[in-house]
Amino acid sequence: LGKSFIFEALDEQSRRDLTAFAHVKRYSAGDTVFDMGTPGQSMMAIAEGTVRVAMPTPNARDVTLAELTTGDVFGEIALLDGGERSANVRALTNCTLVVLERRALLEVLQRNPAFSIRIIELLCKRVRRSDERMMEIAFLGLPARLARLLLRITVAAPGSEEKPLTKLSLSQSEMASMIGNTRENVNRCLRKWQKSNLVDLKEGWLILLDRKGLEAIAEGE
Ligand code: CMP
Repeated sequence: LGKSFIFEALDEQSRRDLTAFAHVKRYSAGDTVFDMGTPGQSMMAIAEGTVRVAMPTPNARDVTLAELTTGDVFGEIALLDGGERSANVRALTNCTLVVLERRALLEVLQRNPAFSIRIIELLCKRVRRSDERMMEIAFLGLPARLARLLLRITVAAPGSEEKPLTKLSLSQSEMASMIGNTRENVNRCLRKWQKSNLVDLKEGWLILLDRKGLEAIAEGE
């Protein structure tokens, strides 16, 4: 639990109370952790690995809401409001999860205001991100959404500040799922940007050749 910012706020006793009711579960890449619409009595902290939070759509394509990794938590919504799971969660890599049961968590929340505030902060962060996404999907076209995604996931490798490059851990289908579009359209857009020297794609690496150009597209210009 030490890997997760929300648990930093716990005092020793509360940490002991929580872990007494916690258990560890391991998943292989591709496994379902839970499905949307199922009842949920627990929250999970990711000790190791990455999961995808997604919602099914009527045309059978999932829309990715978030990818969460070591130190992140999920499952707090059904746990807190007693409703059903609001999204599907699948393991993208082999994962080790710490599963925290509702009763123990609620007791610790009631006794520990600092911990409650951390959970509220987490929910606020997710609402802000959801609002941003809703705005992007409602008002921005595919190029702006894709440019925003690329700028978000591209971290400059050491010594390459001028031309940040990133190992593309996301496939074009995954990018499409994150911005609510199709793989074909994402591919078409990336090829166009490659031709106009905005980006280069080489053996799984993405190189931002013209960050300013992409920033202008991200702003919808
Ligand atoms: P819960 O509804 O219990 O199960 C699905 C989980 O996915 C949910 O709790 C959250 O932890 C997580 N989740 C749902 N929507 C989002 C989102 N927009 N961003 C990040 N995580 C989310």
